[in-house]
Amino acid sequence: MHIDQTEKRYIYLSVGMVAVFAILLAISSVAYSINLVSPEGQVNPAHLTTPGATAYDGFAEPLENRVRMLAPNQYEAYIIGYATKGWKWEPNEVRVPVGSTVTFYVTSGDVMHGFKVQNTNINVMVIPGQISKATVTFDTAGEYPFICHEYCGILHHNMFGKIIVE
Ligand code: CUA
Repeated sequence: MHIDQTEKRYIYLSVGMVAVFAILLAISSVAYSINLVSPEGQVNPAHLTTPGATAYDGFAEPLENRVRMLAPNQYEAYIIGYATKGWKWEPNEVRVPVGSTVTFYVTSGDVMHGFKVQNTNINVMVIPGQISKATVTFDTAGEYPFICHEYCGILHHNMFGKIIVE
């Protein structure tokens, strides 16, 4: 089959670009610690806050106890996103000492949300009935805002909170 010289160049160029992008993607996924989220567990969104109703009893704690210390500098945080409660995260503030490793368990009480923590590699979908789990170590003191990044209704932009590392 005859392929015109110019056409050949464009075929090589487009295949080459795909190869370059694939290589850059592989390099950046290592450099920025990009990990695919694996399924963690399932819950009934209607009974999240009922003590003993799910395997994730942290969600059933009162708001002020949704962040637990497991050991010095080891924490876990249970966060629920709600559209039906006026678009908010519960809790919307997490306070931990600098150097802490925090495992976040995030889920939704109603519709699909997203959970992104600025200046970390946490960026997960928050799906009703599913638990999204992500662990990060906060080595630098400061405030780390988190937002909902999945359009979830008219006041989607109100779904934000912060992690205070002190
Ligand atoms: Cu929740 Cu957007």
